[in-house]
Amino acid sequence: MKTNIKSLFSLSLIVMLSFSAFAEGQGKDKKSKKKKKGEESPEAFYNEKIKPLMDTYCYYCHGEEKQKAGVRLDTLGYDFSNKDHAFEWKYASKLINSNEMPPSSKPQFTAEEKELLMNWITKSLEEAKAKEAGE
Ligand code: HEC
Repeated sequence: MKTNIKSLFSLSLIVMLSFSAFAEGQGKDKKSKKKKKGEESPEAFYNEKIKPLMDTYCYYCHGEEKQKAGVRLDTLGYDFSNKDHAFEWKYASKLINSNEMPPSSKPQFTAEEKELLMNWITKSLEEAKAKEAGE
């Protein structure tokens, strides 16, 4: 079979194009991996930082065993795209911020703990809102 210049040219063009698409894909992959490595996942942050605080100050009244005022907080988790859960977090944050919860007779958050928790709730609510608006 005879190959003419034209078909050879278009073949090499196809090879080049698909290679650059491939290379771009590789680059993207690397970038997203890098980002993930530097940032803690929402799940890890929740499990390592938030849950222990809630466990110490809230779950013994609003957990598996006791649900004062019918409120259970240990099942809320970190998924703020769940509207019911996001609403409960928002409500809880108001009570924490105004020092209504935990009750004043019980162990209180340190200033740093409170700041960490409040920042996390605020940030999570904002992110969920932004995500919803973008979708
Ligand atoms: C010593 C037990 C105890 C602890 C600890 C405690 N709560 Fe409560 N919580 C209660 C009781 C009792 C009520 C219902 C009466 C009231 O509102 O004061 C309540 C009510 C609530 C309500 C519902 C309020 C309403 O208007 O219906 C929320 C939300 C809440 N708590 C969140 C929290 C959070 C968040 C924490 C941890 C920072 C926490 N609680 C720690 C005993 C507790």
